[in-house]
Amino acid sequence: MLRARIARDGPLAFADFMAAALYEPGLGYYAHGTRQVGRGGDFFTSVSVGPVFGELLARRFLREWCEAGAPARWRIIECGAHDGTLAADVLTALAGLDARACEGLEYAICEPLPVLQAAQTDTLRRFAPQVRFVSDSATLAADPLPGIIFGNELLDALPCHLIEWRDGRWVERRVALDESGGFTWTTAKIREPALLAALAPLGGVFPDGYRSEIRTSYHEFLAPLARALSSGLMLWLDYGFERPDYYHPGRSEGTLRTFTKHRAGDNPLADPGSMDLTAHVDFTALAEAARALGGRQAVFRSQGAWLTGIARDWLLEMEGRPQAAALRQFQTLTHPAHLGGSFQVMEFTWCATRPPAARPDL
Ligand SMILES: C[S@@+](CC[C@H](N)C(=O)[O-])C[C@H]1O[C@@H](n2cnc3c(N)ncnc32)[C@H](O)[C@@H]1O
Repeated sequence: MLRARIARDGPLAFADFMAAALYEPGLGYYAHGTRQVGRGGDFFTSVSVGPVFGELLARRFLREWCEAGAPARWRIIECGAHDGTLAADVLTALAGLDARACEGLEYAICEPLPVLQAAQTDTLRRFAPQVRFVSDSATLAADPLPGIIFGNELLDALPCHLIEWRDGRWVERRVALDESGGFTWTTAKIREPALLAALAPLGGVFPDGYRSEIRTSYHEFLAPLARALSSGLMLWLDYGFERPDYYHPGRSEGTLRTFTKHRAGDNPLADPGSMDLTAHVDFTALAEAARALGGRQAVFRSQGAWLTGIARDWLLEMEGRPQAAALRQFQTLTHPAHLGGSFQVMEFTWCATRPPAARPDL
């Protein structure tokens, strides 16, 4: 499919190659099933650590519900819910914390891939009818509710363009075919307006041959989600940097990685569909896209600091009845040398009646 497309249309933007390699029905890495995450898969996430992650998220969501005046109907939207494990952890914790909050809660999972939606349905059978599945978040915009939108390790899986600084300007790295029909790299002049606009704030002092990646899709991804909430919170947990760190001249090879069997690799063209492809999140670009849609950035912290902040009551409860396994999970999630330091959390407050900030040139 990819080879035929390149043979027909010429070299492919890496964002299109990555979209097919991860999501194309029948080919994509995530379109095969749910074996990717966990010990027997290719990588761990905070969800793999155990249910404490969901328990702490549930406490943050509940605080938001209380601060919003305990609305009779509210909604949590999870994006990139994989096999539904995190949703189950959050819903279990919420049921134990506040039965009244659960009564009016709709937990919506936005999942475009049928194979993952089937797995989520299976995992979450015991929570039906509280859980709603949509393949497109625009469906929820017909009935906006107060609530929360969140995703763990989703933004790093959004396709990105690859760029290279050559002779004082950016060129795009594209995927071509070599003489034997294998995938190879080529570079091309950048013409796409959205990509040119995204590159503008990066400035222009880079070593020759400097490589990185950039996404043009944050706004497009957030826009339908934003319409699904009348007010509330957007919350993204992922690895990444603010723009000055992301495009630091010293980071000359970018952050694009492959993952297979818990090993990182650096050849994304090898065997598309067989391994995860991921690149860090530019949290400055994310914040600009959210602001343009009416979001207001409230928090940007390491996962460790953020989780510790919301875990106060949980830790006090633990003092009374310490559970070694739960405390070990908390330590893995928050320790600066573990997930607490490598992941960041960005929160936005949301209000549908608030006018958006001037949309940046995206
Ligand atoms: C690295 S996995 C994260 C899994 C899970 N959230 C966790 O923390 O274990 C990334 C997930 O994002 C999903 N994803 C990517 N683009 C998406 C989109 N536009 N809408 C919803 N999910 C998406 C992928 O299908 C994949 O399941």
